[in-house]
Amino acid sequence: MNSDKTKILLLGAGGFIGTNLTEQLLKNEKYKVTAIDINTEKLEGSLQNKNLIFKEYDIRDSNYPIEELIKNNEIVVDLIAMANPSLYVSNPIDVFNLNFTENLRIAELCLKYNKRIIQFSTCEVYGKTVASVLKEDPIKRPFPFNEDTSPMIMGPIKNHRWIYACAKQLLERVLHAYGIEKGLNYTIIRPFNFIGPRIDFLPSEKSGNPRVFSHFMNGLLYGTPIRLVDGGLNYRAYTYIDDAIDCIIRIIENPDGVCDREIFNIGTPENEISIKDLATLMKEIFNQNFRQNLDPDPKIISVSSEEFYGKGYEDCDRRIPDVTKARTKLNWYSKHNIESVVFNTMEYFVNKHRAKYN
Ligand SMILES: NC(=O)c1ccc[n+]([C@@H]2O[C@H](COP(=O)([O-])OP(=O)(O)OC[C@H]3O[C@@H](n4cnc5c(N)ncnc54)[C@H](O)[C@@H]3O)[C@@H](O)[C@H]2O)c1
Repeated sequence: MNSDKTKILLLGAGGFIGTNLTEQLLKNEKYKVTAIDINTEKLEGSLQNKNLIFKEYDIRDSNYPIEELIKNNEIVVDLIAMANPSLYVSNPIDVFNLNFTENLRIAELCLKYNKRIIQFSTCEVYGKTVASVLKEDPIKRPFPFNEDTSPMIMGPIKNHRWIYACAKQLLERVLHAYGIEKGLNYTIIRPFNFIGPRIDFLPSEKSGNPRVFSHFMNGLLYGTPIRLVDGGLNYRAYTYIDDAIDCIIRIIENPDGVCDREIFNIGTPENEISIKDLATLMKEIFNQNFRQNLDPDPKIISVSSEEFYGKGYEDCDRRIPDVTKARTKLNWYSKHNIESVVFNTMEYFVNKHRAKYN
């Protein structure tokens, strides 16, 4: 009997967050998940589960039955996006079309069929810090990003990497407007740098430009230099994927409607580290726990952002999440410190690599 199960439509279920979320939801018999993605590779372990229906669809394809799927589910979780900084620079129009236009269509169908939508946005909507605008040291002027009070400061148009943040921000603004004018029940999630198993491919194994952890891991396993973009001076606060999924599930469960028409940061301010220090920490953890005799010893070098990403790149110097809302409304606290975030993610990559080559 499936009738008592909560029916969830998970769009982008084959990605990093999507696969980890699907796996966790399926551990609980109370969910029935319909998963949509253009990619099945990372979802393979879950495909046979009786509580999962997987459909390989491209949401840009006008022939796919999205309306029917939304009608037949209770909650829509939308993770679909181009979520990789190199694409914001190389394919800004595609980024806008998918991350704003296509996702807006999903939200409008949720409004039409009176379904709750959980929309993944990004911490990038906050833009830059006050310190960077005033040309001050970001360490001396910490500026935690709060969902409901922080202003959002974007870079100039010529630095087109901001199109990702702007598309996500505009989508948030439209959802909010649909909420106040037409009663759309949305929850917006702003992830702050999740990492963990299945985050991305390694560039030596598949072409493309993944996120930072995979680049550094590639250096440790294949000996390619660990390249610090503009010296790696920016700071990020990393959250382990299991902690993030724990919070996302609390948002899905939505006790007493506390998440209705709310925005949630999900992040771990205690895990803040500069990218440069992340590279050093990764080397140390690798050497202490995983190093084998013939493993390479990559150099850490600095490259310009233009050399790494191309023209139009600009970055935020510091992103500190204010997670008071997730703590007070959902009683959520992340459990993994930065060392265990790095260790666990590294273990996943090392095991995969050794299984392939040893
Ligand atoms: N991982 C993070 O730390 C982080 C940070 C900020 C924001 N986010 C947001 O969270 C969401 C999920 O991020 P992720 O890290 O899992 O990214 P991801 O790239 O691993 O997952 C996105 C998934 O969407 C799928 N997809 C893309 N285009 C599609 C299409 N046209 N039709 C169907 N499926 C399509 C991809 O195949 C992919 O599996 C995104 O919206 C992203 O912007 C994530």
